Amino acid sequence: MTSKIVDVHTHVYPPSYISLLRSREKLPYIRIFPDAPNASRLIILPGEDDPSKPSTSRGRPIGPEYWDIKEKIYFMDKHKIDISVISLANPWLDFISPEAAAETAEKTNDEIEELCEKYPGRLYAFAALPLSASSPDIIVKEIARLKSLKHVRGVILGTSGLGKGLDDEALVPVFEALCENQLPIFLHPHYGLPSEAYGPKAGESGHVLPLALGFPMETTIAVTRMIVSGIFDQFKDLKVLLAHSGGTLPFLAGRIESCIQHDGHLKKAGKLEGRRSIWEILRSNIYLDGVVYSEVGIRAAIGASGGTRVMFGTDHPFFPPLVGDEKEWLSVRTNYDAISNAFGEAKEEAEAVLGRNAIQALNLED
Ligand code: URA
Ligand code: ZN
Repeated sequence: MTSKIVDVHTHVYPPSYISLLRSREKLPYIRIFPDAPNASRLIILPGEDDPSKPSTSRGRPIGPEYWDIKEKIYFMDKHKIDISVISLANPWLDFISPEAAAETAEKTNDEIEELCEKYPGRLYAFAALPLSASSPDIIVKEIARLKSLKHVRGVILGTSGLGKGLDDEALVPVFEALCENQLPIFLHPHYGLPSEAYGPKAGESGHVLPLALGFPMETTIAVTRMIVSGIFDQFKDLKVLLAHSGGTLPFLAGRIESCIQHDGHLKKAGKLEGRRSIWEILRSNIYLDGVVYSEVGIRAAIGASGGTRVMFGTDHPFFPPLVGDEKEWLSVRTNYDAISNAFGEAKEEAEAVLGRNAIQALNLED
């Protein structure tokens, strides 16, 4: 049996979502600027349309690779990817009005399911949730409905939850429903860090600080808040796939664990009794993608969660080559090389990370 390559971190904005972004005047939106009338730009990240930060004020160019599923398949074929688990890209449905949340989620998820149906065996999906809905019941209802979408294997979630983060008690029914329906969360950043963290010269370094540091720190903080709040002790079956190899979680896990063990406040509140350690959570609740671009990062991910819990990803269509005619994407090659360098001769283990782990964890071959 030849082993398959699975991409668990790969995005799409389905056509109706693109129309929505084109119809909007404020973040997130797609716009054509008068001085470049032939090119649409995608403006999504906080501060990206701030005129005082010239280099990041225009978002990024956007073309059919963001919405045309044929482009996804073309990219997969070019990079030898057999199966992709596609997910709506940030900022998902976070900005949708409460009144429109349920309907927009249904429509978006149905559309993503239809994209998967066009390419049997090649595409599966993480669905989006109507987090801005007026009540968690609406979110729970959409989670239950996802059973009818044959290619859905989990949900993609940002870090904001219902507005107060993922350690919010109001999310308990949502986590309950996800466990009941055996749907893992793909946890992905969007909001980064407060802009002051990037300093007054942030505009001079493009997207480097928010994407290289803001994104991973956001994920690290979000999942650490979940751990500290005891959510993984309450929901032992909750599964979370962390984007970008967990941000900095593999590297900081020991420090986080030690800070918890030495915290007088947590001890007084009785929160140190009966808790599972961060290492147990990493090895039973957490999966890490391989979108970390280095052998060192892959080794850290495997060291933290184990060789069966790390899964290849590309982040397509983000991070395209800056030189238009590059045959193979540098970002993808770097992630492939990181895996092969980390495993050397251990081909079986490399194959697990490249595909087998995702096939098993996300049940991709039933
Ligand atoms: N930039 C984004 O906004 N999202 C991604 O997923 C990757 C890069
Ligand atoms: Zn991504």
